[in-house]
Amino acid sequence: MPEPRAADPDAISQAARLLKAGELVAFPTETVYGLGADARSDEAVASIFATKNRPSFNPLIAHFAEVAQARQEVLFDERAEKLAEAFWPGPLTLVLPRREGCRISLLCSAGLDSQAVRLPSHPVARALLAECGIPLAAPSANLFGRISPTLAQHVAEGMGDRVAMILDGGACEVGVESTVVELLEGPARLLRPGAITLADLERVIGPLKARLSGPITAPGMLESHYAPQAAVRLEAEHVGPEEALLAFGPRPLEGAAVTENLSPSGDLLEAAAHLFAALHRLDATGAPAIAVMPIPDEGLGLAINDRLARAAAPRPVEAFAESN
Ligand code: TXA
Ligand code: MG
Repeated sequence: MPEPRAADPDAISQAARLLKAGELVAFPTETVYGLGADARSDEAVASIFATKNRPSFNPLIAHFAEVAQARQEVLFDERAEKLAEAFWPGPLTLVLPRREGCRISLLCSAGLDSQAVRLPSHPVARALLAECGIPLAAPSANLFGRISPTLAQHVAEGMGDRVAMILDGGACEVGVESTVVELLEGPARLLRPGAITLADLERVIGPLKARLSGPITAPGMLESHYAPQAAVRLEAEHVGPEEALLAFGPRPLEGAAVTENLSPSGDLLEAAAHLFAALHRLDATGAPAIAVMPIPDEGLGLAINDRLARAAAPRPVEAFAESN
C-alpha cells in the first residue's frame, strides 16, 4: 500500500506530473481529501468512478487555482461573482452553466449542462493546482458508501492501492464537504449545506430558495438531468434503419442510420468515458430512437447501465441520501 507522502515541493511537482499524465492523486483540501484527476480527460474522470466503486455517475466538482480559469469554462452571473469574491478560495462550490466549448469532460458534469466549480483554500491544494495548471475533478477520496476522509491515512486505508499517489497535508480543517449552491436559471438554491452557511450566503446575494426537502437528492435523479430527446431502447439485438445505435464491443449491429461505438474493444472504462458525449451526438442527429446494445452489468458497466436505464425510462423519482 503506498504510504502518504509529505506534501513538499518535490512531491507536489511529481503529483502534478502524474495528474497531467491522466493518473489519480489524492490531495488535501480544507474540507476533506479529494481524489483528483484531470477534469478535461474523459478517461481520467472515468477512472475516478471506477476507483470509487460507484454504481452510478454523480457529477463532480472541478477545482481551479484561479477564478479566471474557472470563468473560461462556466458562466459567472453577478451572484456567482459576488459569492466568489466573498468566499473563494474556500469551502464553497458553485454549480454554473457550462460555456459553449467548455473543456471539462461531460462525464464530470454527468451529462448535465451545468458544471460545479470551486477554488479550495488549502495551501497544498492551491500549490498542486497552480503547478498542474489544469482543472482537477475531485470527489471526496472515499470508496462509495464510506465516510469522507479527513486524514491522508484514511485515504491510504480506503483506497491506497488504487491511486498513484497520496499527498499528505495533515488533518482537514473543516472536515465536512463544501457548501454547494446552484446558480442556474431562477433563484439560487442550496444543494448541500457546509461550512459556508445559508446566512453567510444570504448576506451576499439575498434569499436562496429552500433546500430540497428531505435528504439531498442525488442530481442524477433531478428532472434537470440530461435526458435524450430520442426514445431509448435498451438491450437491442437488432436495429432499424431510422434508429441511431449506441454500440458496444467488436460486433456492432448493422443497419442503423448512425452508430457510435462506446468501446470497440469492449472496455468498460473507455465506454464510461465516452457515454455522455456519444449520447449527445446521437441525439443531435434527430433520430427518433436510440437503440443500445447490451453492456455487461459489472464494474463501471453498473454505472453505465444505471444511466441508460434512466434515459430509457424517465420517471418521477424519490430522493435518497447522498453517500458518494
Ligand atoms: O469539499 C468538497 O466539495 C470535496 C473536496 C474534495 O473538494 N469534494 C466533494 O465532491 O465533496 P463530491 O463529488 O463528493 O461531491 C460533489 C457534490 C455532490 O453532492 C454532487 O451531487 C454535487 O456536488 N454536484 C456536482 N456537480 C453538480 C451539478 N452539475 N449539479 C448539481 N449538483 C452537483
Ligand atoms: Mg463525497
